[in-house]
Formats: sequence, C-alpha cells, structure tokens
Amino acid sequence: LAAGAQLAGQRVISPAAVTASASLTILFGSQTGNARHLAEALAVKAKAKGINAKVLDMADYKTSQLKHEQYLIIVTSTYGEGEPPESAQGFYNFLFSKKVPQLAGLKYAVLGLGDTSYEFFCKTAQDFDQRLTELGATSVQSRADLDVDYQVEADHWGAAVVTILEPELTANTTPSAQVIAWPGTDTTGVASQYSKQKPYAAELYTLQKITGRQSTKDVRHIEISLGNSGLSYQPGDALGLYFLNEPQLVRELLLLTAISPDTPVNLGSVSLTVQQALTEQLELTQSYPAFVEKYARASNNLALSALASDKAALRAYINERQILDIVREHPALISAQQLVNALRKQQPRLYSIASSQAEVADEVHLTVGVVRYNAFGNTHLGGASGFLAERLAEGDKVKVFIEQNNNFRLPENDDTAIIMIGPGTGIAPFRAFLQEREARAASGKNWLFFGNPHFTQDFLYQLELQNYLKSGLLTKLDLAFSRDQAEKIYVQDKLYQNSREIWQWLEQGAHLYICGDANRMAKDVQQTLLTIIQQVGSKTAEQAEQYLEQLRIEKRYQKDIY
Ligand code: 2AM
Repeated sequence: LAAGAQLAGQRVISPAAVTASASLTILFGSQTGNARHLAEALAVKAKAKGINAKVLDMADYKTSQLKHEQYLIIVTSTYGEGEPPESAQGFYNFLFSKKVPQLAGLKYAVLGLGDTSYEFFCKTAQDFDQRLTELGATSVQSRADLDVDYQVEADHWGAAVVTILEPELTANTTPSAQVIAWPGTDTTGVASQYSKQKPYAAELYTLQKITGRQSTKDVRHIEISLGNSGLSYQPGDALGLYFLNEPQLVRELLLLTAISPDTPVNLGSVSLTVQQALTEQLELTQSYPAFVEKYARASNNLALSALASDKAALRAYINERQILDIVREHPALISAQQLVNALRKQQPRLYSIASSQAEVADEVHLTVGVVRYNAFGNTHLGGASGFLAERLAEGDKVKVFIEQNNNFRLPENDDTAIIMIGPGTGIAPFRAFLQEREARAASGKNWLFFGNPHFTQDFLYQLELQNYLKSGLLTKLDLAFSRDQAEKIYVQDKLYQNSREIWQWLEQGAHLYICGDANRMAKDVQQTLLTIIQQVGSKTAEQAEQYLEQLRIEKRYQKDIY
C-alpha cells in the first residue's frame, strides 16, 4: 500500500504530511520466531506513538533500500557457533560485503537474543552493531544482549527506544499519520485466539513408534487434533509444544533439597506450590549457566562458585548435565523460593510439522525423535520428547501453538521442481510438502533424499514414500542407509553421485531445501552442493559461493535445521 493511500474506513492522509515525517524500519533475523515476535511488538509500540514504522524479515528486505533508511532497529538472534539465523544470512553478508554503502545519516539500535549456554552469546547482534558503527551510523540506544528469559528486559528496551525516537519521528506528523499501514509480515494461517502465550490444549490422536525394534533410534509419528481451535498452518511451519516435567525427577529434586512439595512459592506474580512450579513451569532438563551461578550462591558452595567463574569450564559442565545431575552432585538445603529463583522458565519446544491441512484437515502430524541416553549412571530423557513418548497416551491433551516459518516454503509456482534433503527426522516438513503438492495436483517435479542408519529399522514413512514413487508424485527418491554396509553412505554422497542431474535441476529453476541436523549434516551437504556447482558448472570456489548466495536471495535455497 503506497503511503497516503486510503484505507477502508480511515481518513485520507495527504502525501505531504506523510513524506514530511521520517520513518522507522524494524528488521528481524529470527530462527524460532522469538525475534520476529519482539520486532512486531516493537512496531506496535512505535505505531501507538504515531511513529511511521514498518517491520520486515531480513530475508525479505531489499538491500538497495538501506541507503535510504533514516532510522533502523535490528532484532536478531544468534545461532550455532555465532552465526546469523538462516533468514538473516543474506542481509548479514550484504552488510559485510564491499557493496554496502556508507551509512552516515543512519540512526540505529540493535537488540540481541541468545542463550548464555553458548560460547558466542549474541554474537550476531554484536556484529551488526559494530558494523553499523563502522559504516558511520549512529547508535541511539546501547545494544541489549538478552538470554533465553528475555521478555521483561526486551519490553523495557523497546519502551526506552520508542521514547528516544518519538520526538524525532513524530515531529512533523499529524495524529492521523497513525493510521498509515505498514506492511506486516505474512500472518496468513495463524488467525486464532491461541498463541505461544495462550496455547491450545489439543487432543493426542495417535502416538506410534515408527522405527524398528532393533533400531538405535526411537522415532514417533504423532497426530494431534486442532479441533475447533481455529489454528491453521502451512507446510514449513512448526508446532510449539509445552510439556510437564517427569514426576520422578521433581520428587528427587525436592528430596535432595529437603523441600516439602506443597511449600508455596512465587513465580512472577503467581503463587503456587513448589511441586507445581517444578512440574509445569520451569526448565529442568536443559541446564544453563545462570542456574549454576544462582544455585552455588544460594547454597554457599565454593567449588561450584569457582566453576561458575570459569566460563568455558561452566559451559562444558552444563552441556553434559541436566539440572538434577548438578543437584545430585551438590545436594544443599536451600529454600523452595531459592530453588525456584535459580531456575528459568520452560521454553516450549518446536517441531517441524509433518502434514498438510490439504490432506489432514484439522490434524497436525509430527515426527519426533525421542531423546534418551545414559549419563552418570542414570537414564536421561528429553523434556518434550520424553513427555510425549513416555507419559502421554492417546486421548491425552497437550498444549500447543503454531509458529509460522515464512523462510521454509514451497515455491509459489506449482510447476517449479523441488529438491528435498531430509535425513532422519528432517523428513518431517517434506512429508508436508508432498501431501500439499499431491492435494494441489502440482505438476512440478519432486526429488527427495532421505537417510538413516538401517533400511529395515529406520526407513521412516517407507510405505508412503514408496507409494509416492509409484504414483509419480515423487520423481526421484534417493536413500542413504548409512550403516547397511561397511562404508558410511550419507545423503550428500547420493547428492554427489547425482551431480549432473542436480546441476540441471538447479539450472532449470528448482528450489532446494535442507532439513535436519545443523551441526554436521547441513554443513556437509552445503559443501557438497558447492563442489557440484564448481565441478559441473565449471566455476571457481568463489563463483560457486556466489551462485548459492544468489539461490538464497531468490529463496530457492532454504534450510530448516536445528
Ligand atoms: P550415522 O548415524 O550412521 O553416522 C540420520 O541421523 C542419518 O544421518 C543417519 O544415517 C546418520 O548416520 C546420518 N549422518 C550422520 N552424520 C552425518 C553427516 N555429517 N552428514 C550427513 N548425514 C549424516
């Protein structure tokens, strides 16, 4: 909508009044939606003050626009080893390239989201901040680097920044400028009263183990009813899921600290029993630096305090341990409130959705790998996956919400070919893609690469996929069962064996998607893609990088990796 255009039922704004006021651009780089939600909330705050604000995913931002910006807020998470989130990669690369203009007139602020459990905490936010200063831009408010429990601080930071910008950005505006529409991010598919803040209690229809009895893995196919929640989703979206902690784990934690289960505690402004707080509200499976620091202080534990002061040692320590492991090693008589204060709020887990509503209507399907391992002489279970697999039965309720992911989408054009690389539970969104394409009778070719340890034990959705191959929905299916022979075979080996055809598909406009393990698989697959582009496309290493970067910019190279 052009500035000054008339909105239904709203006053016409004269173009002069509009152009007279400066505008604010809020860009977000989001992996799991948190940065997006904060950016959108910030835009609402700014608009309420009469600021002409627009909010955009960095992945959708035209970098040629940057030199025209006057006010810019960046909200970004950091991911992996200090890398930008996938959707921010293009903008990040541009900012650090030779093509970037000087930004002397620009005023900006950066808000970083991260996790102190990682070495490169908020690295991407720091990078953006530093780089904008280098380019001559002026920071209007110092950067905040926020940990997993970010909401309160983020609200403060946002309010402060809006207060600073308000006088400059509303000086020439008439109050009517408030009604100028700013392009919101795509919200199709999530028009429901339920959200991350207000999850829907959904019924579990199906909970089925789909790996064999001798498999090294336990993967569940889960079907959940969205009933009449009004929740809807698109292929590529994720389901957010809250869970209850294991009763036994809570019991042992209370025994070790000699706290009675019904001791009342305060959580924010809510009063409840410590048992309830531990079961329903707090994070017990993943540990984090702040817990060790606070627990050490509350229990006057000098050894733990010393450990907490060595950041690298502390990261290694928490990496191997759940909360209970730490308390088992260092039992202490602390108060219920001290224990609660040391713990952080449970973060819901996100699972890539494995179904299309065109096929399953009001259901949502997931493909969940159960986290289960032995450490320090005890069995450990993942928070959400353990809850689903061990403590829920069909008919039970689970609290869910939809987290949209606009950076993992089928091509708009149904004729476009797609290449999908999804080993392990990375198959999930591709099952959704295939269901959707079948329902739409999309004519584009579909090529799937799947891998797992053993054909007989781990061929997830074997019948469905083989039927899709028979029916022709799947043009090609390449399988990499890594442990069925002496030499490991991975999806990237299959990709490499098909170098010529991959190159042809890409040259003919195919979109390429990767889903699954971020640490090793996605990196190795990307490296193989670069090799293919170099070898078959006769390019230098640098040209191959540019080719892939161009695919990314055109949204033809998308990743959903974790
Ligand atoms: P492995 O466990 O036998 O090594 C899904 O987890 C599949 O991905 C498994 O077959 C696993 O093989 C394989 N895998 C492990 N590391 C990988 C990597 N770096 N690249 C691609 N696939 C990998």
